[in-house]
Amino acid sequence: MTQKVFPIHAAGARAARYDGAPLADTLGRGLRDLRVSVTDRCNFRCVYCMPRETFDHDFKFLPHEEILRFEEIARLARVFAGLGVQKIRITGGEPLVRRDLHRLVAMLAQIPDLDLTLTTNGSLLAKQAAALAAAGLKRVTVSLDSLDDATFRAINDAEYPVSRVIEGIEAAAGAGMAPIKINMVVKRGVNDGHVLAMAERWRGSGHILRFIEYMDVGSTNGWRMDDVVPSAEIVRAIASRYPLEPVDPNYAGEVAERWRYKDGAGEIGVISSVTQAFCASCNRLRLSAEGALYTCLFAEHGHDLKWLLRRGGSDQEIVNEIAAVWRARGDRYSEIRTAQTAQARKIEMSYIGG
Ligand SMILES: C[S@@+](CC[C@H](N)C(=O)[O-])C[C@H]1O[C@@H](n2cnc3c(N)ncnc32)[C@H](O)[C@@H]1O
Ligand code: SF4
Repeated sequence: MTQKVFPIHAAGARAARYDGAPLADTLGRGLRDLRVSVTDRCNFRCVYCMPRETFDHDFKFLPHEEILRFEEIARLARVFAGLGVQKIRITGGEPLVRRDLHRLVAMLAQIPDLDLTLTTNGSLLAKQAAALAAAGLKRVTVSLDSLDDATFRAINDAEYPVSRVIEGIEAAAGAGMAPIKINMVVKRGVNDGHVLAMAERWRGSGHILRFIEYMDVGSTNGWRMDDVVPSAEIVRAIASRYPLEPVDPNYAGEVAERWRYKDGAGEIGVISSVTQAFCASCNRLRLSAEGALYTCLFAEHGHDLKWLLRRGGSDQEIVNEIAAVWRARGDRYSEIRTAQTAQARKIEMSYIGG
């Protein structure tokens, strides 16, 4: 199995010249966030993302030459910033398995007024935090699904202990990154019993714990609605021990709903992509490791930008292409999700960038 089965539309002559007017898609949504996948590979095999039985037996990873080089990503990032993108999240796969990632961070950190961040499983963060911070990374999101070692190892399916990730979080904090966000995907019967322990561990730490509903991304994780733990249930469980109150979003379209402990011990977030779809305000675009643009996590095809880059396309041509792709965008998958759509073949999150 390979992601190449998903059609990638070639960029090029078809895009009309961008007229400079603010970008809005067919549902009136602006473009604000870009997620950049720097690799489709990972040193974990999380059961909800890259289950070992599929990825290690049946899955073809991208060849090296197909992956965008740092210089290519940086050029695209500058073009995106010129089109109004305010935030770039480096992701994957596991971004820290990409050699010398700090070099890319240094390039992106030079883009004025850009909110630059990175999502990692944390396993290699202790080694790299200082270099990443020195390159200009000011904040980071670390995934951690349980504090219980046996549960965590069962989820990552690669024998990584919790202590490695905690060391990574501490190294990032020690290098001055703040706030650190900690993402926990909650799956019924797997780690839903560990929600309170996580809340207790990170309360008062200055880090922000966020609970993510298990999603039907890709087609390898055997997703079922019954496995989803609704965010409302998580908020109720925590609030029954530590009273919470809602907090206003930082900006329109923020995916996490914010809550703060009434006793002043900080805040948590919940990302309810399944039970409370936020398609209506979705302002995100994704760039895959091989340079294809995806207008939705659940998109059925990508738009090839590497084609333009490697055939000497000008910045203007790239702008034209991005503008055309965004203006044609009408995705609202999570609002129209059904048991049938959840079974459809979709792009893996490790490829498109989580
Ligand atoms: C695909 S990962 C890529 C970055 C990095 N490897 C990591 O795990 O943080 C990005 C985020 O997506 C989350 N994720 C992966 N599969 C998911 C799923 N099926 N449902 C919800 N979140 C998922 C991960 O937990 C992680 O927080
Ligand atoms: S969630 Fe992140 S760490 Fe886990 S398999 Fe997917 S890409 Fe790797």
